[in-house]
Amino acid sequence: MEKKPIVLSGIRPTGNLHLGNYFGAVKNFVKMQETNECYFFIADYHMLTTHPNPKDLQSNVRQVVIEYLAAGLDPEKATLYLQSDIPETAELYLFLNMNAYLGELERVTTFKEKARKQPENINAGLLTYPTLMASDIIIQRAHLVPVGKDQEQHLEMTRTFARRFNRMYKVDYFPIPKAYNFDQELVKIPGLDGSGKMGKSEGEGNAVFLGEDPTSIRKKVMRAVTDNGPTEMNQEKPEPIQNLFSLMEVVSSPDTVAHFDEDYNNCSIRYGDLKKQLAEDIINFTAPFYEKINELKKNDAYIKKVIDMGAEKARVNAQKTVREVREIIGFRKIY
Ligand code: TRP
Repeated sequence: MEKKPIVLSGIRPTGNLHLGNYFGAVKNFVKMQETNECYFFIADYHMLTTHPNPKDLQSNVRQVVIEYLAAGLDPEKATLYLQSDIPETAELYLFLNMNAYLGELERVTTFKEKARKQPENINAGLLTYPTLMASDIIIQRAHLVPVGKDQEQHLEMTRTFARRFNRMYKVDYFPIPKAYNFDQELVKIPGLDGSGKMGKSEGEGNAVFLGEDPTSIRKKVMRAVTDNGPTEMNQEKPEPIQNLFSLMEVVSSPDTVAHFDEDYNNCSIRYGDLKKQLAEDIINFTAPFYEKINELKKNDAYIKKVIDMGAEKARVNAQKTVREVREIIGFRKIY
């Protein structure tokens, strides 16, 4: 039987899932789990680069697990786990660090950015973020890594580290993983503030979350940026208006979109009506996620079961890798 490609991706446990995350990444994870051997994990070791306190760390991780499950990740199909449940990752990270050079690590864009943003905390974990990420990936001997554009440089480094290991020990051990960049294929979800994409760092009111209650969604949508309305027939839509239409395209029926499009083109559109409709359609779209999130929040036992199951599966694989790597390096077999 032909082996399915191994797909792996890490999730930073920061903030709640919004529509932009959903259409920009999570929906693809959900699709990929049907046809590939998938590993998805919460990158909680990586979180330590910003020194979170234990309570926040734990509640963020839990919330992310809940939201990804609600969004459709199926623990029976994909392996869903916490990075910190695979301590073998840290050992492989140590090995990789021995062959990672200061110069190449210092040149990484995300490192430079972080160093600029938190000059009081430029720790070695930030510098070696790419070797830890490489360890996450190659410990499962992944082939495909679905990531956004911002992670491509990290992935390129993973390839470098994997190749370097193979060359150094004259083995063909680690597969060289490929970035699976789905940025292009997916619809970009704009925010509600008139410009740019949906994001949680773009300020209050810009993003709609999967776990957001209807009242709050209505408020946000009604406050979305618009303009004074079209003055000429069939005129091009300025960005804030186009953004609302783009949102409609993903949550509303084609008839609804066509109806408001026509109104826009003949200058009879009332933005209040459009927003009301958009809000209701977003609420309809997010309702199943919202319900599922609230249901899962009450089910600690189930969450624990999912995480335990994921840890066990991911760990078997990781242990095998580290055992073999220790042998290749020349260490005694201890496990
Ligand atoms: N660096 C990724 C991010 O910031 C998260 C991550 C950690 C990751 N380890 C990974 C992604 C391994 C893919 C594969 O989003």
